[in-house]
Amino acid sequence: MTSPVKSPFGRHHTAEDVSEGVDLTGKRAVVTGASSGIGAETARVLAERGAEVTIAARRPDAAAVVAAQIGAHSDVRRVHAAALDLTDRTSVAQFADAWDGPLDLLINNAGVMRLPDLTRDAHGREMQFATNHLGHVDLTTRLHGALASASDGARVVMVSSSGHLFSPVVFDDVDFRFRPYDPLAAYAQSKTAEALFAVAITQRWAGDGIVANAVDPGAIATRLQRHVGGSLATPTHLRKTVQQGASASVFAAVSPLLHGVGGRYFADNVEAEIVDARPAAPEDIGRSAARYALDPDGADRLWTLSHRLLRRS
Ligand SMILES: NC(=O)c1ccc[n+]([C@@H]2O[C@H](COP(=O)([O-])OP(=O)(O)OC[C@H]3O[C@@H](n4cnc5c(N)ncnc54)[C@H](OP(=O)(O)O)[C@@H]3O)[C@@H](O)[C@H]2O)c1
Repeated sequence: MTSPVKSPFGRHHTAEDVSEGVDLTGKRAVVTGASSGIGAETARVLAERGAEVTIAARRPDAAAVVAAQIGAHSDVRRVHAAALDLTDRTSVAQFADAWDGPLDLLINNAGVMRLPDLTRDAHGREMQFATNHLGHVDLTTRLHGALASASDGARVVMVSSSGHLFSPVVFDDVDFRFRPYDPLAAYAQSKTAEALFAVAITQRWAGDGIVANAVDPGAIATRLQRHVGGSLATPTHLRKTVQQGASASVFAAVSPLLHGVGGRYFADNVEAEIVDARPAAPEDIGRSAARYALDPDGADRLWTLSHRLLRRS
């Protein structure tokens, strides 16, 4: 049993706080879905710390605007915008094929949440599982060589959510073909899958110097929450700013405390408590990780299933 990672940071710290003193000069980072919200702030702070950052987004115009805004405050040559639609296999392949050289930090941040009606991608996959999980599996797998060639090892960050506590991955029905569609269950399943993928990456690729962790950014009023009434859905004292939310990804990506650490789940910038039942209090939900989301056997099974589904499409 490995001991939990502790840190001096908590829920109120920002991405700038958790990366203070870290020099990312010479590092290259990709942040998916960074044309808005938590991803844009993550990209900004990584660039501010000296990294060369690529904003990978399905709306290239919006990505270019964010890149220009970030570039106005750091070296514009180090901030790039690139097209990436995670539900489009061709788009993912084009992005990965165009990547040249090593990749030190991959922040799998893009996501959709609680789509009100059952929606499928072009391959028939449920849209939240397809976007949040399968698209990132496809992208990360295609970038394996670039990650493996990072000189000091590479880190992958899976932006999960405390929402994962509302459903495990239902392996026999990830696409809601046998059970009634439920927006929260679908989001939860996809976020459990993201946490399990961090475990699977570390299991398979730690020998290549690649580790991955999952994070919960907390509750932040971004565009993501448009289907659930925005920040009003979260008690006031539990809401975070975008700067605080982005601390989760930046902490997992750059903190020296996490050197060589993988397959863990962090919330409020500390390792979450592993639970066997969903806590009742919202405060406790926000600092818990379901055991099923970190289960090595589940991670292995999901890796196999995900690659089988990707091969089929
Ligand atoms: N906000 C919260 O309270 C909260 C809580 C827990 C976890 N999270 C997680 O944090 C991450 C970032 O969310 P956010 O709150 O910053 O929301 P956001 O502002 O809506 O950002 C989500 C990003 O994902 C992109 N995206 C969606 N579908 C995509 C696709 N098919 N291909 C590529 N990009 C796609 C969106 O692009 P478009 O602009 O084109 O739609 C957007 O840039 C998500 O993974 C979310 O689940 C958020």
